[in-house]
Amino acid sequence: MAIMLEQLEPTPGHRVLEIGAGTGYNAALIREIVGSGGRVVTVDIQPDVAEEAASNLAAAGYEDVEVVAADGGFGHPERAPYDRIIVTASVSDVPPHWREQLVEGGVLVVPLRLRTQCLSVGFLRAGASLRSRSIQCSGFMYLRGAFGAPERGIPMGDGLFITGPEAGRIPLDLLRDLLSQTPRRVGGLVVPVDSFGLGGGLGIYLALQEPGVVDIFSVVPERWGFHAVSGVLDVASRSLCLIRRDAVVVYGTDDAAGRVRRRAAEWVGMGSPGVERLRVEVLPAGTDPGVSATEGSASGPWLLGQRWSSVVVWFEDQGFRGT
Ligand SMILES: C[S@@+](CC[C@H](N)C(=O)[O-])C[C@H]1O[C@@H](n2cnc3c(N)ncnc32)[C@H](O)[C@@H]1O
Repeated sequence: MAIMLEQLEPTPGHRVLEIGAGTGYNAALIREIVGSGGRVVTVDIQPDVAEEAASNLAAAGYEDVEVVAADGGFGHPERAPYDRIIVTASVSDVPPHWREQLVEGGVLVVPLRLRTQCLSVGFLRAGASLRSRSIQCSGFMYLRGAFGAPERGIPMGDGLFITGPEAGRIPLDLLRDLLSQTPRRVGGLVVPVDSFGLGGGLGIYLALQEPGVVDIFSVVPERWGFHAVSGVLDVASRSLCLIRRDAVVVYGTDDAAGRVRRRAAEWVGMGSPGVERLRVEVLPAGTDPGVSATEGSASGPWLLGQRWSSVVVWFEDQGFRGT
């Protein structure tokens, strides 16, 4: 929450909209910062949660924070425009209402899913475009409602779920079969394992560049040895490579490990860019993003076309968009 508030940079007098009131705690923090000259509106889609947030805020002396029970995907047009908007649930698509209700030059902070990776992105509004100015690692529950992510975790039994936009197309029987085998440790990687992890540059590169990327989430980590893990599944060659915190392992044939090795080498060849070199621009769907989905070279830019927005992602120093 502190990291996201730093990205938001609210100052005294600001009008701030929060989407996802939850306990009301973050709204209280924002109200402390913007002071009595500012205004805080917080929205939650779940009426009982909104009610509890309102009662918590009142009990803590923040009666002037306005709590609304509604789908925050629509923002809260009644009090727009806002100097700052913060979303505390994750999306892969950005509803147009958030940009429209933000002043020019205003800041939107939102946990954005780039395929399997969730990153908290601080955007500046510039006309019809939102341009990233800070990106941090993040992990958030999905936004629900009209703009909620269609891709939820798919249960595959034994406390495992797979997530990500391709999850619906993954053959679960094959995945189950592979995971029931004994994995082998993968050597010969040119990078430390933690480069793959949450917010690691290689993890982001894999999510953007590797079509076979899968994310597996376990509610029984003691049984599987991981809570959340990224990997590469090669369906044709029946191979699964998982990048665990302690080791990179492969199930079935070695092919998926070979793919991970190649991606790691490509990423190192790009100078091992981390999250600090990542740039994101969100444009309304239907506007020309200046890059096509098929154009993406090994080093990007990548176009993630969504229903409401086109999300363009690149690493700086690639000569794209002047950076
Ligand atoms: C991680 S919690 C927010 C934590 C909160 N900011 C706090 O300070 O406690 C996410 C919240 O987003 C809410 N939510 C999910 N989809 C929403 C939507 N479309 N509009 C508004 N709230 C939503 C959930 O009901 C949940 O309370």
